[in-house]
Amino acid sequence: MNNILIATENQIATITINRPNKLNALNKETIEELGTAFADLEEDEGVRVVIITGSGEKAFVAGADISEFADFDETEGKKLAGKGQAELFDVIENCSKPVIAAINGFALGGGLELAMAAHFRVASDNARLGLPETSLGVIPGYGGTQRLPQLVGKGRAMEMIMTAGMINAGTAHSYGLVNHVVTLEELIPTCEELAHKIIKNSPMAIAAAIDAVNAGYMDGTDGYQVEIDNFGSCFGTEEFIEGTTAFLEKRKAEF
Ligand code: COA
Repeated sequence: MNNILIATENQIATITINRPNKLNALNKETIEELGTAFADLEEDEGVRVVIITGSGEKAFVAGADISEFADFDETEGKKLAGKGQAELFDVIENCSKPVIAAINGFALGGGLELAMAAHFRVASDNARLGLPETSLGVIPGYGGTQRLPQLVGKGRAMEMIMTAGMINAGTAHSYGLVNHVVTLEELIPTCEELAHKIIKNSPMAIAAAIDAVNAGYMDGTDGYQVEIDNFGSCFGTEEFIEGTTAFLEKRKAEF
């Protein structure tokens, strides 16, 4: 991997996008490497939570790499968005293990879209977030027009997309776009603390919950029905037996 670093400790895999000189902009190779990393982590039984962040103190990811698509035609543009969504952004959203975005600076364009594909977000107080694509004569192509309204509401999303402006961490927090704002030093420790809380719970149930929550945002899928099915499928599993038995025996469940 030339553009990302992966470190696994205490069942937490931390992926760091590592192109600091380009503010971690997502070029084609980085997107491919991230896609491969998420596919591998999905299968890795030693990993229970994934944290994704950017290297350096300035940027999470400052967007898709503009130098790679500036001369694209319509067909190439469509392919860029379609391939990126299918091979990375949708993969992250549907990852059966919790994915936390640790936003350590600029999260712009494809960078904010990457953070929004994660299951939730924590930001450092220097973070600046936005979808500046309309200033480049294009629109967000990695799910931004869909996930931003889901997270902040249609009006705020429209304003952010139309103005192409950036919001600071405090505004992102008040919008519900990030769950917590902490100092840069506290960013990864805070994400790790959240990961440790998650790891105490049943990975099978967490995967079933991710699937049910996501189902509610899928056209033509009845999220309530998926919840009923996934609820039912928990019964009789080893983790359900351990969880309920531990409660009745007044001890902590071990998952
Ligand atoms: N694509 C390609 N290169 C990028 C990039 C991107 N999205 N964002 C930053 N870079 C590169 C710059 O070209 C520069 O490279 P260089 O040193 O080889 O010239 C380097 O990263 C540092 O960026 P720079 O613009 O000098 O930093 P800054 O502090 O002055 O400005 C930003 C920071 C984030 C405001 C500015 O880089 C920016 O506007 N980036 C593009 C954001 C964007 O529109 N993203 C959406 C893309 S769809």
